[in-house]
Amino acid sequence: MSITYPAGHVLLRSLTKNYPVISHGKGIELFDQDGKRYLDACGGALVVTLGHGNEELVQGIAQQLSRVAYVNGMQFTSRIMEECADNLAKKAAPLGLDRVALLSSGSEAVEAAIKFARQLCVDRGEPKRTKLITRTPGYHGNTLYALSASGRPHYKKLYGPLLSEVLTVSCPYGYRNPVKDYESQGTDHYIAELEQLLQKEGGDTIFAFIFETISGSSTGAWAPPQDYFQRVSDLCKKHGILMIADEVLCGSGRSGKFFASEHFGLKPDILVLGKGLNSGYMPVSALLVQQKDLDTMKRSSGYFMHAQTYLQAPCMAAAALAALTYIDRNNTLTSGASAASALQQQLRRKIAEHPLVGSVTGTGWLAGVELVKNKETKAPFARAEKVAERFVAHAQDTGIIFWPNVGQANGTDGDLFMIGPPINSSTAVVEELTHRTLQALDSFAV
Ligand SMILES: Cc1ncc(COP(=O)(O)O)c(C=O)c1O
Repeated sequence: MSITYPAGHVLLRSLTKNYPVISHGKGIELFDQDGKRYLDACGGALVVTLGHGNEELVQGIAQQLSRVAYVNGMQFTSRIMEECADNLAKKAAPLGLDRVALLSSGSEAVEAAIKFARQLCVDRGEPKRTKLITRTPGYHGNTLYALSASGRPHYKKLYGPLLSEVLTVSCPYGYRNPVKDYESQGTDHYIAELEQLLQKEGGDTIFAFIFETISGSSTGAWAPPQDYFQRVSDLCKKHGILMIADEVLCGSGRSGKFFASEHFGLKPDILVLGKGLNSGYMPVSALLVQQKDLDTMKRSSGYFMHAQTYLQAPCMAAAALAALTYIDRNNTLTSGASAASALQQQLRRKIAEHPLVGSVTGTGWLAGVELVKNKETKAPFARAEKVAERFVAHAQDTGIIFWPNVGQANGTDGDLFMIGPPINSSTAVVEELTHRTLQALDSFAV
């Protein structure tokens, strides 16, 4: 049984698609009501980090819910919120971040991060800092300012009149860029662009630079060249611009380290988490900041002037803490390292050769595969062919789930799909995933 609009009463995202009805899941597998098995190769929207039906998570959350599910974060804190913040602050100590707020979606955490940065500048006596730098392609969420900050022209088309203006620079994207050698020459190229922008706009008019530490579906999981963030950081410091690391997708262990920033020795001023923070068992996101900046706010405005109903809600803290505790107790990041590197190697060895595949890249448990019309010239398919969407629908028919994205080649064309299995997957799961990805590609009629 599947649901197609107008059946039922759900406001379905697609009004033409068939939606299978999922009954349950276990590990990397999902089962629909007809008993069909799916390999959930991308954790839904790169969310499920610790597998479906994970009893340790379920028990951790249930125990807290039976104590107290909700208190207003404006009036109370709770033992579970304190424990959750302690755990995250301990993990974030090497990054210099030590204060945590919980919210309930990535977009909300991004909005809060942007407001925090702006308020901090005002509280420091620099109200003229009103501009935000973002990167394109890039994605920071679907609420109106997070969407404004997203370098995705096709998402913005309809809402243009409602969006705010932001400044943009190019996002490091190794498959398509003007330099010969991305790793050794890429940084110079992207930094020159940033320097030009700073000169044109005036560094002292900018309050923050927001970026995905490792890109998600906007470029298909491209990481920047290794020295990129050091150079960005030097420039931001020089001009007094705050760095906001959006690790909603690449954080919480997805990249093989808990924070993607750890790969680059990056110490952002503000960092946001979401998605895998609790593996999908409860909506929760996090804003991580530095106590010294809160001290500045305390002396000036008095407090961070932002709150929402679910700020620090115990149910969300329970969900996040259950996942964090699972990772600590099972040493998931270390014990999964060899399976994660097997995933990257196998995808590069077995998938990259396929005639439809232009590039395979990724870090840890995150990977992106770009589909092209011509491997030699990197020419993308025309958007009208809807290759990414058709491939992912075909793969779903064969029983493997990927996350598609489009438009990365030139703002309109470009087809890719994302891979992101649970970070506690075994090498056997990695092998099955690679094998079935190849099968789906082989049986796909472009
Ligand atoms: C990097 C990044 N930031 C922010 C968001 C927004 O998160 P949410 O969809 O939970 O609002 C996403 C979602 O895909 C994301 O990938």
